Amino acid sequence: MTNQSKDCSRRDFMKTSVTVAALSALPLGLSNKTYAAGSGRVRVGMIGCGGRGTEAATNCLQADDGVEIVAMADAFQDRIDRSLATIKQWCEKNSTPLAQRMRATPETTFLGFDGYKKLLALKDVDVVLIATPVCFHPVHLAAAIQAGKHAFVEKPAGVDPPGMRKVIEAGELAKQKGLAIVAGTQRRHQAKYLQNAHAVGQGAIGKIKGGRVWWCGGGSSNPPRRASGQGDAEYLIRNWYRFSMMSGDHIVEQHVHNLDVANWFLGRPPVQALGFGGRARRQGGNQYDFFSVDLDYGDDVIVHSMCRQVKGCYTQVSEQFLGTEGSVWGDGKLAGKQVAVPEFEEKGGPYVQEHRDLIKSIRAGKPLNEARNLAESTLVAIMGRISAYTGQVVRWSDLTKNEKSPWYNLTLKPTPLDFEQGTVVAPLENVIPLPGEA
Ligand SMILES: NC(=O)c1ccc[n+]([C@@H]2O[C@H](COP(=O)([O-])OP(=O)(O)OC[C@H]3O[C@@H](n4cnc5c(N)ncnc54)[C@H](O)[C@@H]3O)[C@@H](O)[C@H]2O)c1
Repeated sequence: MTNQSKDCSRRDFMKTSVTVAALSALPLGLSNKTYAAGSGRVRVGMIGCGGRGTEAATNCLQADDGVEIVAMADAFQDRIDRSLATIKQWCEKNSTPLAQRMRATPETTFLGFDGYKKLLALKDVDVVLIATPVCFHPVHLAAAIQAGKHAFVEKPAGVDPPGMRKVIEAGELAKQKGLAIVAGTQRRHQAKYLQNAHAVGQGAIGKIKGGRVWWCGGGSSNPPRRASGQGDAEYLIRNWYRFSMMSGDHIVEQHVHNLDVANWFLGRPPVQALGFGGRARRQGGNQYDFFSVDLDYGDDVIVHSMCRQVKGCYTQVSEQFLGTEGSVWGDGKLAGKQVAVPEFEEKGGPYVQEHRDLIKSIRAGKPLNEARNLAESTLVAIMGRISAYTGQVVRWSDLTKNEKSPWYNLTLKPTPLDFEQGTVVAPLENVIPLPGEA
């Protein structure tokens, strides 16, 4: 696409939204903090306006009456168009005046792989919603925090160990700057999970000795589709769920939710992982169909993780932990000692509640910071993936401390910089990592 890096033109924007003419200009001159802390407007910029980004925008609108979408950035015009149409529909369905909630204008809408930089340069953006493909999250989050914006960042945190260390650094910088980071690991904002986590913390099941976490579900085995004339960058972006360098593979992209619950309930990350995986059904792309990983949390505590994306097989998406005095399902039944558990708020479901918690924390001047939890849960998934791909035991320290480890600096390519510089080369397809020897 030759016009990728051009800002969204006024003509294109007008074509896509009949309401744009009615949008009023943003009042200028007040600092981020004036707007975001207190009871006024919260001005939100979207980075990545695809399926989840658009849904996150409507969740955020629902979370707080002061929220306004004031800027949008996406690689492609059609995604902006679809996102605008969906937000318009949401406003109609909720009898909400579109012009009050959707204030993005052609001047605050940016196309291309560097559009996020232009959005972040806008003074009148308080919060960004980052919902780009996984490989971009570390760079987009770090840039948002550098630019002084509060952030909601979708899970997972990224695809490789250097990316995770970047997210942890961004989290530390956010603390210094008084900025919030909330992650799309929505189970941490879901009342039943919060109740069970609290009860486990109070000793309701004794000491956790082990557990099982699953994301075994369906998944399309159809190959990715390349439209005629489509370059490698666009092809990878439009099919990012099929490529491990874009998604981290599904153990990272999807199973991170359950691995996050394991870290949360155990209160620590594992010390090592040994796993395997493979593929038999998929066509195209370069991901595995399934992973099975033993996570050693030290102190004789093992959690088994399994994930599969194959149609027509047994499905299970949950977590179970076994303690010395009982057991618990992540958001289900707890069998153990009675302990007092407070009420936890969950209005509109966890996808809305995470935005309520984000905005409440900003308004209260007590910014939430979930960067480390997100990075560590993602790193567990990356550890499992590396073990399955290589057939080796992978230690936590190999990814966090041991600079001599072959995986410490493992960087998946193409990188976000390749997308910005136009140096993207798509990988060979149907070629997957094979551990061991024949
Ligand atoms: N929390 C959850 O339950 C949940 C559910 C679904 C997806 N997700 C996560 O949300 C993220 C997005 O997933 P999706 O399903 O919306 O994907 P999607 O493909 O529908 O949307 C991604 C959007 O980002 C745009 N994009 C790509 N690179 C960009 C860049 N460099 N700058 C700006 N825009 C860019 C794409 O054009 C696309 O519009 C992923 O991290 C995914 O794992 C989370």
